[in-house]
Amino acid sequence: MTAADPAARRLRVALLGCGNVGSEVVRLLNEQAADLAARVGTPLELAGIAVRRLDKPRPDIDPALLTTDAPALVARDDVDIVIEVIGGIEPARSLLLDAMKTGKAVVTANKALLAEDGATVFGAAREYGADLYYEAAVAGAIPLLRPLRESLVGDHVHRVLGIVNGTTNYILDQMDTHGAGFADALDEAQALGYAEADPTADIEGFDAAAKAAILAQLAFHSAVTAADVHRQGITDVTAADVASAKAMGCVVKLLAICERIPARGGRNGRGVSVRVHPAMIPRSHPLASVREAYNAVFIEAESAGSLMFYGAGAGGAPTASAVLGDLVAVARNKAGGARGPVESTYAALPVLPMGETITRYHVSLAVADRPGVLAQVAEEFARQDVSIQAVRQEGHGDDAQLVLVTHRGRDAALTATVDALRRLESVREVASVMRVEGDEIL
Ligand code: HSE
Repeated sequence: MTAADPAARRLRVALLGCGNVGSEVVRLLNEQAADLAARVGTPLELAGIAVRRLDKPRPDIDPALLTTDAPALVARDDVDIVIEVIGGIEPARSLLLDAMKTGKAVVTANKALLAEDGATVFGAAREYGADLYYEAAVAGAIPLLRPLRESLVGDHVHRVLGIVNGTTNYILDQMDTHGAGFADALDEAQALGYAEADPTADIEGFDAAAKAAILAQLAFHSAVTAADVHRQGITDVTAADVASAKAMGCVVKLLAICERIPARGGRNGRGVSVRVHPAMIPRSHPLASVREAYNAVFIEAESAGSLMFYGAGAGGAPTASAVLGDLVAVARNKAGGARGPVESTYAALPVLPMGETITRYHVSLAVADRPGVLAQVAEEFARQDVSIQAVRQEGHGDDAQLVLVTHRGRDAALTATVDALRRLESVREVASVMRVEGDEIL
C-alpha cells in the first residue's frame, strides 16, 4: 500500500443480512459515500452482502455483491470490517467470532446475542484485539451505548430507567389515551406494523429484558445476561389498571430498570437490580411524556446528574443510522491504527433476586365495606414492615374498592403482603397490583 494508490487504502466492508436495516445501511453507504470517506479519511467500499435468498428483488443493489455464503465472505482477506444485522444466536455468533479472529472490526445490531452470550463475544474482541461496536442493539437510533461506554465512563452511574420497547409503549399509550383494552390495542399495533405477527418477544418483555441486560452491564461494569433480568410483560395490564393509574395522576409504562442496591458504607452497592415490568409513573415524570412507539432512557449518574435520551427505538433507517455511526467509528480506528473501548466487568456486582429489590406497590382491593376492614388490611402491611403512603376508598357497599400505595420496601415483603391480603375474608378480590416508580404520587 502506498500513498499514491488510494484504492489500496479503501476500507472494505462485508454486510451480513439485508433486511429492513441492512438495505438501509446499503442505501446510506451509497448515498453518503463522499461524506463518509471525508469523515473517515479514507473511502469505504462494500465488498459483499450475505443474504439468505438471492432471488428476492433488490432493485437498488448490485447483484454482483450478493452471496449466500456468509462464512466465505467473512473469511475474505480483503474485508476489513464486518457488519452483522442478521440477528439471533447462530450463525451470527460464529460469523462474528471468525471475523474478529481474522483481524476484522465488527459492528453488530444483535441484542439477543450480546444479552445471552456477551461473554463469548466480548471475550473474543479482547483476545483478538478487535473493535466491537453495537450501538444499534439497544433502542435503534438513540445514542445510549456510546454515552455509557465512553461519555459517562468517568462517572458513577446509579440508575438507568427506560422505555426501550416501542411496541409495548404504543399499546400502553393507546390504552391510556383511548381507554382501550390490551387485546384491542395489540390488534391495532399489529395492523399498523408496530407489532409482529407473533408479538411474544415484545409483549412478554423479552426484547426489553435483553436491552436491560446490555445497559446494566455497561452501566455497572458487571456481567449481566438476559437470564439475570426479572421479566414481566404487559399482557396482564388491564384497562382498569390504566384507569386507576390515571386517577392518581399516573401513567402505566413498561420500564427497564437497572439500579444499584445500596450497601451500608459501600460505594458500589451490594449488587444490582435489573428488571423489566409494567409500572405506574407520575405524569410529571419525563418518561410519562414518551408517547406512541418512541423510546427514551433516563440515566442518573453521580456527577452528571439526570440525563434523558429520546428518539426512534426501531425501524430500518433509524437503526441504520446507529450502524453507520459505529461503522465510521471502527473505520476511523482502522485508518488511524487505533482501537475502541473494551468491555469491562471488573466491578463484578451480583444481580440480586427481585425479592431484594426496593420497590413501591399500588394495590387495589375489592373489599367488604364495614368497620374494621381498613384496620385488617393495614395490619397485613404492618406485619411485613411495609409502610403505607396513601389510602383511598372508591365506591361503597358491595362496590367498595380500597386503593393503597406504599412507601418503598423490599419487593419480597410487598409480595408477601399481597399474598396475605388474598387470604383475608374481608378482601373479596385483589383487583390490581402494580409497582410504582417516581416519588410524587396521590
Ligand atoms: N420490537 C422492538 C420494539 C424493536 O418494538 O421496540 C426491536 O428491538
